[in-house]
Amino acid sequence: MFEEQAECDNLSQLLSQLNEHLEQFQRFEHADAMASVESWRSVLSGTVPQQGVGATQVISEMGKHIIPNGSQIAKPGCTSYITSAATDIGSIATLAGITASPQRIGLTAFNHLEGLALNWLAEMFDLPSGMQGVFSSGGSTANLIGLGAARQWAFEKIGLNPADDGVQRACKIYATEQSHHTIHRSAAVLGMGRNSVVHIPVDNMMCLSPSALRKQLEKDKELDAVPVAIVANAGSTNTGSIDPLQEMGEIAREYNIWFHVDGAYGLPGTLDPQVHDLYKGLALADSVTVDAHKWLGAPVGVGATFVRNKDMLFKTFNQGVASYLEPTTVADEHARNSMDSMGFPYHDLGVELSAATRGAVVWALIREIGVDGMTARICRHNAMARRVAKLVKQHPKLELALEPMLSVCCFRYIDEKVGDLDKLNKQIHRQLMTNGVNIPSTTIVNNNFVIRPCFLGARTDWHHADDLVEEVIKIGDSLVKSL
Ligand SMILES: Cc1ncc(COP(=O)(O)O)c(C=O)c1O
Repeated sequence: MFEEQAECDNLSQLLSQLNEHLEQFQRFEHADAMASVESWRSVLSGTVPQQGVGATQVISEMGKHIIPNGSQIAKPGCTSYITSAATDIGSIATLAGITASPQRIGLTAFNHLEGLALNWLAEMFDLPSGMQGVFSSGGSTANLIGLGAARQWAFEKIGLNPADDGVQRACKIYATEQSHHTIHRSAAVLGMGRNSVVHIPVDNMMCLSPSALRKQLEKDKELDAVPVAIVANAGSTNTGSIDPLQEMGEIAREYNIWFHVDGAYGLPGTLDPQVHDLYKGLALADSVTVDAHKWLGAPVGVGATFVRNKDMLFKTFNQGVASYLEPTTVADEHARNSMDSMGFPYHDLGVELSAATRGAVVWALIREIGVDGMTARICRHNAMARRVAKLVKQHPKLELALEPMLSVCCFRYIDEKVGDLDKLNKQIHRQLMTNGVNIPSTTIVNNNFVIRPCFLGARTDWHHADDLVEEVIKIGDSLVKSL
């Protein structure tokens, strides 16, 4: 029988056991999890075990049944969604953090690194100086935090306090149909309702039309609704489009409305000199988000929000006073022990009290390769999307849906003999999934079903762009031949 303490002092041995399995996984030789779904599902079922088997056996079971049946997202050729595998230093920093600092609170090096890493992100991405940053679990929560601060600001202007009294008026949030649906969910969670999100039309690059925004704002002056925020995409999920940040920011200033920029995916794009100018309007942002677990290579669970007016963050999210929550702390200058202080109170600026120490992860990612390394990665991925666009335009059987702005490139296979091109491209995509090497996602652009690679994995390299295009042509040609 294994006691609860059984293998608590055996970390290095357990890690080396785990390492073997992880290294094997990272050779990406395993079949897709669905190939053996029945076998692992039946092994990983059953009722709660009365007796434990010990950590060594747990790792052995992980190595046999769980790790090899993990996600395709980790593969370098996977360009689906906007998510990637963690870099090694990201995984290791996460492990170090959860081992050495189980919470981000306390006057520790880890709590300090939350602030340093946030400052580094702000500096690296040229955010307006003095913005207060806070880490959270990802883009969904980061948008919620930014829009929470926006709601507080908009209501305080009319003498109301939504944090204490709730939302007592109809609200409007101006975004586009290309905005991530977490904007709508944030509106719902913040009590404004999904219907408060107004979709402003987009132009042919899928970017918000400033004239349409202005028209809508004029029209809404008649309404008894509180304009809470204008939301811009700095890299949309669908096509990587960047809204006209400068013009939107100026309109937001003119109408005295909070300007929120969702850069969960695309904020790091500002490092690419070829598109840097598109980010100039960030200087006008009231809140900005970015996910380290997208383009920066952090393990999932690391997003950040930056807010110009930090009082709004505190007013919206401070956890309030409760005697049981306050340990006996002293002012930082009198602290002699890391437990004497809670450290910087990030728990009052977001929705989590208990939280992992994400600053150390971001610190490690940047410390490992520096701004130069990050810039090289971002430039490589953007250039790969442009490379796909070039190859597509050169090939008679391919059609480009949209010139890429960042690292997403949408295209489809065409053939004049084929009536239903959507069906053909769906079949091509199914075959790509079955082959399991180049794994893009799909979307709809201008009513057409298209193939959508998004290059952002640290292990996704130049050849993956050419490989994908070649494979699409090969599959398309053979499907058309068999018609
Ligand atoms: C632009 C944008 N915003 C927000 C999100 C939500 O981020 P998360 O999945 O980290 O919650 C995503 C996710 O892909 C996104 O692309």
